[in-house]
Amino acid sequence: MALCCIPFLVSVGQVRSIQVLSEGWKFSRLKQEGALGISFDDKTWQTVSVPHDWAIYGPFNKEIDKQVVAIEQNGEKAATEKTGRTGSLPYIGEGWYRKEFDLLDFKAGKKVILLFEGAMSEPQVYVNGNKVGEWNYGYSYFYFDITNQVIAGRKNLLAVHLTNKGESSRWYPGAGLYRKVSVIVKDNESIDQWGTSITTPSVTAGEAKVKVKTRVSAPNSFLITDIIDDGGNRVARDTIRKVFNNEFEQDLAVMQPRLWSPETPVLYKAVSRLYVGNELKDEVHTSFGIRTISYTADKGFQLNGVTRKFKGVCLHHDLGPLGAAVNRAALKRQLQILKDMGCDAIRSSHNMPSLEQLELCDEMGFMFLAESFDEWVRPKVKNGYHLYFEKDMEQDVVNLVQATRNHPSIIMWSAGNEVPDQYGFEGAKRAKRIQDIFHREDPTRPVTVGMDQVQNAMKYGFGSVLDIPGLNYRLKLYEEAYKTFPQGFLLGSETASTVSSRGIYKFPVVKAAQKQYDDHQSSSYDLEYCSWSNLPDDDFVMQDDKPWVIGEFVWTGFDYLGEPTPYDDKWPSRSSYFGINDLAGLPKDRYYLYRSRWNTQSPTLHILPHWNWSAGKSLEKGREGEVTPVFVYTSYDSAELFVNGKSMGIQKKNNSTPQNRYRLMWNDVKYEPGAIQVVAFGKDGKPAAEHTVATAGKPHHLKLEADRTSINADGADMSFVTVSIVDKNGNLCPVSDQSLQFSVKGNGVFKAVCNGDATSLEPFHLPTMKTFGGKLVVLVQALKTAGIIRLEVNGSGLKGGQLSLKTVNL
Ligand code: GAL
Repeated sequence: MALCCIPFLVSVGQVRSIQVLSEGWKFSRLKQEGALGISFDDKTWQTVSVPHDWAIYGPFNKEIDKQVVAIEQNGEKAATEKTGRTGSLPYIGEGWYRKEFDLLDFKAGKKVILLFEGAMSEPQVYVNGNKVGEWNYGYSYFYFDITNQVIAGRKNLLAVHLTNKGESSRWYPGAGLYRKVSVIVKDNESIDQWGTSITTPSVTAGEAKVKVKTRVSAPNSFLITDIIDDGGNRVARDTIRKVFNNEFEQDLAVMQPRLWSPETPVLYKAVSRLYVGNELKDEVHTSFGIRTISYTADKGFQLNGVTRKFKGVCLHHDLGPLGAAVNRAALKRQLQILKDMGCDAIRSSHNMPSLEQLELCDEMGFMFLAESFDEWVRPKVKNGYHLYFEKDMEQDVVNLVQATRNHPSIIMWSAGNEVPDQYGFEGAKRAKRIQDIFHREDPTRPVTVGMDQVQNAMKYGFGSVLDIPGLNYRLKLYEEAYKTFPQGFLLGSETASTVSSRGIYKFPVVKAAQKQYDDHQSSSYDLEYCSWSNLPDDDFVMQDDKPWVIGEFVWTGFDYLGEPTPYDDKWPSRSSYFGINDLAGLPKDRYYLYRSRWNTQSPTLHILPHWNWSAGKSLEKGREGEVTPVFVYTSYDSAELFVNGKSMGIQKKNNSTPQNRYRLMWNDVKYEPGAIQVVAFGKDGKPAAEHTVATAGKPHHLKLEADRTSINADGADMSFVTVSIVDKNGNLCPVSDQSLQFSVKGNGVFKAVCNGDATSLEPFHLPTMKTFGGKLVVLVQALKTAGIIRLEVNGSGLKGGQLSLKTVNL
């Protein structure tokens, strides 16, 4: 990526500056005459910082996105009342942002670029009262040259008007300037925005050829490119004077290259310096990785010459209680949780990812499937992307590729998700047209589309056109599609869509599709799914038994706002149940099922359910003596279960059913309070690990655990503090939920709180919330001065908890 990602004001070699416009924005949702003009008085408007999501503060209200529709993608024929589809948060309507900015280094001969990394949606952009441009798609990166609108030596005014139509999304889109906005000042003779493209077309152990193409607006210039390794050493240099059609092309050799992979995320940096005569005119730094990718019928997907299958998850862009407002700490925490699970790939469903997420994937080692659209010409929702497709598609694809192509993490593009255009010959042609644009912009990566109409995709040739046939669910059609399509392999572009609520278990334990309960929760025995989807184990069978399946992207890594299947016809319910982790980022049991398979570095041994089934406040009738199955998700092949020291027998994974192949299950256990213990056996048959879950006593105190105790004093960094209600011995009390209160003092602020309960209508930003399954997560944000933050959590009848966090200037 280019320099656009460095915070606040950065000067590069004194030749270009990048000012991130983050603080001191004025915001209003009330239409006011003249609001876009320079003389308008915005003193009464709210002061906000950007990234900002105006809708996340709520309140939740079922009327906001109530629709009477049949969701065709879900196979529905009759229209019913739906609520919560887009999170029931107030994203619909118009919003205005205004921000004054200085241009200290602007003078004659300079150029000014205004860059947006996403604006939800339909932004109309004004500088000093003059319209400089507009965009439609809320997920696109875009920029305008505002040189002719700005004035040196005085404040300039940026005003942005945004509009979100109802029925414009199938999930919570967020609202407002939810990603970074920057102003870049550079010389007129300079490197173009997103003008650098770096590929590594030839890689051997001894040498990598690094091809650097640089587009410039400087006819009589020359370019010096240095390649710097991660230790800061210059490992290659090239000077070029010949420019063809405004583009320099250089091949540099890096000896003994260290290859990028999820396990070894080594990054290099290209420093491009543009000169006219002896004068340095521009300098751009671009991070990249050296790696090869290939997709073939005989070897499947190969990274650096080694076949591997994607252990991926799909992610929507919202960050739970933060909404769509992008935050690096929140993204990093998600990736850390996924890393520990053994996940190695992310799909940005169903739109362009944030640049922060791509940078983190480069640095932390995740492969990335960067998606673009959920609709082409045929609609899914009344005001979806189909309104813009014909006019905007090409430019949106161009911007996606040009802004992100240097990220080594991106190993595939996706031109669409379940687009209804899979039907008919026109759709196949359309697929080819879009794919050709991706190829023109980036000849190095293949293109997929997540297909759900697999029969149609076979019949009309849609799936044959694509570089990578991606199947969403439809396991029963994998074989036929593999035989029909010419590529010789398939991708599970979207898998599972199993539903569960953290810490909730339902009896009797049965496999079921579209199962609903009165409390609007789904069971964490992980046996519930949708009419179109399946259980994790069914995908594992395909992944393990079919060499031509090149991996999977599970729907989804984390719960997200909106799409509360199977409760989209019930209220309250406003967020998804699909996540392997809940909306607060807390792992559900399913996390350990995936971990037991995907994390090959450290063993997994996890027991479910919790063991608090005695009669009490939350359970009128106890389960004493009732069948209460115990499942163990483990990387070991066999284990013995004990209930209060009494053996329930040994279970061994076997091929009788997909569940028996990947889970250990004791289906006849009868509940009695006490402790359940599992002892797992190693390959030599000897006990290798054990884990115990005990019946918790009365709620006694609050336990606070921070994901990071030292954070950056930059006004944006956050610590995520998990708060648990525990008994006097520290055991989680899983059924004693109650309201807690939070207070933050010192060098930080209370930012938000989330309990992962899809039915909760408590706002995320007030310092009180009820626990769910005995837990919730408090988000504490650093101020800009270094020091100590003190978080205090209290709940009636409980010994409160305190925690100190340090904020440091990095
Ligand atoms: C898929 C779709 C996703 C989500 C998912 C829920 O068909 O691509 O966006 O709706 O179903 O199971």
